[in-house]
Amino acid sequence: MLNAMHHAVQAAANALRAARRIAVLTGAGISAESGLRTFRSAAAPDLPPDMQALWKEFDPQTLATPEAFAANPDLVTRWYDWRRIGCLAAEPNAGHLALAELERGLVQSDGSYTLLTQNVDRLHQRAGSRNVVELHGTIIVWRCTRCGEETEPAPEPMTEFPPRAPCCRDPRALLRPDVVWFGEALPDCALRAASDAAESCDVFMSIGTSSMVYPAAAFVLQAAANGARTVEINPDPTPISPRMDWSIRAKAGDALPRIVELMRTG
Ligand code: OAD
Repeated sequence: MLNAMHHAVQAAANALRAARRIAVLTGAGISAESGLRTFRSAAAPDLPPDMQALWKEFDPQTLATPEAFAANPDLVTRWYDWRRIGCLAAEPNAGHLALAELERGLVQSDGSYTLLTQNVDRLHQRAGSRNVVELHGTIIVWRCTRCGEETEPAPEPMTEFPPRAPCCRDPRALLRPDVVWFGEALPDCALRAASDAAESCDVFMSIGTSSMVYPAAAFVLQAAANGARTVEINPDPTPISPRMDWSIRAKAGDALPRIVELMRTG
């Protein structure tokens, strides 16, 4: 690791070790090392189109809005089911595991830890993280468009598109992924939990997110305004990088295990 980066990693570990309350925000970048595609990472000319960031191959307006679902539920649910199967096939990586270890250590010493994630893949929970706030919902659960009843579809590709909701007799009742689409509000309880964590934390870490999507991108700035130390982990710079105490230009799967080890050993 380069000297400047080593310094930032050490400084972040020191701040985290001294902290009683830690908040973390993650985005698609933390799951990249599990093989899941991000939405808008920098162009990677050596990668084939089906490995590029999702919004380079697909149009969010025709796939990730309530209007798109109303106009073409077949297309939208096929796309989300394809992604759901990809998430189920993926495994948590060293970054997810390191965050779960960080939480366990902090909770054992009576500290508080909140993990805000924009990811819908459930990899944090599978890695052992407990206090996870899903800001954008989850693709693993789907819900009825009529009564809202939630269901966890079987871990194999669906066979009927758009999928009919089993709970309601009305043939217009469909299943949709329990995710937040562009133009939809984030769940109130998630917003409250995120705001509380940002207001009260000693350290806020922003990991693997382009910080382009609001309100998620605002929480780290809210934390900074309340006096928290701030850490970013991302191989590429983002709009918030200049405002961070420490910007670590590295992959989450490299930086996080190192930080957690330094928190333990000093
Ligand atoms: P983005 O795809 O916008 O950003 C991913 C970020 O991860 C980029 O800044 C990459 O540089 C960084 N990255 C890539 N590999 C990494 C690695 N190994 N370690 C650390 N960082 C890495 O993803 P999000 O910021 O999560 O919303 O996107 C936010 C929201 O926009 C998503 O939740 C989704 C999307 O449209 C909806 O679908 C509503």
